[in-house]
Amino acid sequence: MTVASEIKATFEFKPGLEGVPATMSSISFVDGQKGILEYRGIPIQELAEKSTFLETCYLLIWGELPTKQELEAFEHEIRYHRRIKYRIRDMMKCFPESGHPMDALQACAAALGLFYSRRALDDPAYIRAAVVRLLAKIPTMVAAFQMMRKGNDPIQPRDDLDYSANFLYMLTEQEPDPLAARVFDICLMLHAEHTMNASTFSARVTASTLTDPYAVVASAVGTLAGPLHGGANEEVMTMLAEIGTVENVRPYVEHCIQNKKKIMGFGHRVYKVKDPRATILQNLAEKLFEKFGRDKYYDVAVELEKVVAEKLGHKGIYANVDFYSGLVYRKLGIPDDLFTPIFAIARVGGWLAHWKEQLAENRIYRPTQIYTGSHQAPYVPIEER
Ligand code: SDX
Repeated sequence: MTVASEIKATFEFKPGLEGVPATMSSISFVDGQKGILEYRGIPIQELAEKSTFLETCYLLIWGELPTKQELEAFEHEIRYHRRIKYRIRDMMKCFPESGHPMDALQACAAALGLFYSRRALDDPAYIRAAVVRLLAKIPTMVAAFQMMRKGNDPIQPRDDLDYSANFLYMLTEQEPDPLAARVFDICLMLHAEHTMNASTFSARVTASTLTDPYAVVASAVGTLAGPLHGGANEEVMTMLAEIGTVENVRPYVEHCIQNKKKIMGFGHRVYKVKDPRATILQNLAEKLFEKFGRDKYYDVAVELEKVVAEKLGHKGIYANVDFYSGLVYRKLGIPDDLFTPIFAIARVGGWLAHWKEQLAENRIYRPTQIYTGSHQAPYVPIEER
């Protein structure tokens, strides 16, 4: 038996840990063949129709839908923790305007740990306070960076506005249209949680060291930023502009296939059919177009979805959550490089649910590796190299 085959017999290495369970979890469920997504057993379509983002976060984090009183208390706490410390704003003033808002967000999330350094991971009151702070302040940070990089003062949160309406207000200083605010709130629900995706895995690994929740969220934000994960929503809009017209779609797809180039907003490790969130997002985009006018790239997107299904459907490659979200956000007047920070605002709910679940039965993550290097190698003096 060779060393390589001996190793293979002992461990079955799965690149990207495909199909390897990393935890036991009761937070969400995905059936990638049937296109089913449930949060705590409730289908995503039902939540999108009937719930709100904060109620959904409560469900994800505490495992049950809140009573009316519980929800009101939760919303109330979050409303009154939306402001951020002036020192965080001062820190943000030093960030380059050209920097990506995801980098700004990661730095700000980590900085929260400087202000709330007490750590009592077995105290439910501590957990609740961290949940409230992170859900309340992350949107304010995203909006503040947006204003400051344009040379304006950040807009203070408004206590009379709901979570999503307040975020949209802080971006523009205008009260959003009720349909826009509701659509945005649904988008947050759709992005709140998705089993063991890369950023959630990152959050759980970080949580397993018993560090503070701000470090957990900061590490997850960094992981979400990449174009293979949350960063794809911004890339989709660049791609649609590059394609430009419906006629260019087919040659674009053929070129990508020939050159083994990934088409942004398509494919998924788990879904082998259209992502159910993409279906809801497409419907939301159409609702917005009816009221506020059609996006010039929507026809390109629809044609792209059709051609990708035709050419790559046999491999199970269909539109994912990132494909239509940008068209929705753009119609809401949101700049492209805030799409991924918005994904992060939403996913804080899921990351915190996983943080809490990890703490309840923690063991530090410490997998193994298959060493492929040499042994007993000589140290060669620098002048002989
Ligand atoms: C998110 O995990 C989650 O749950 C994530 C997420 C969440 O809510 O947290 O759903 C959010 O991250 C959505 C994904 C956003 N990313 C993109 O849209 C980027 C484009 N898509 C991919 O690069 C890719 O599909 C991934 C990263 C999403 C999945 O990667 P995998 O599972 O490692 O698949 P792979 O790259 O190994 O591809 C398998 C095959 C390959 O073909 P073969 O070599 O086997 O012939 O499918 C092909 C790939 O070339 N393929 C694609 C493709 N995605 C996969 N071909 C063209 N375009 C694509 N987009």
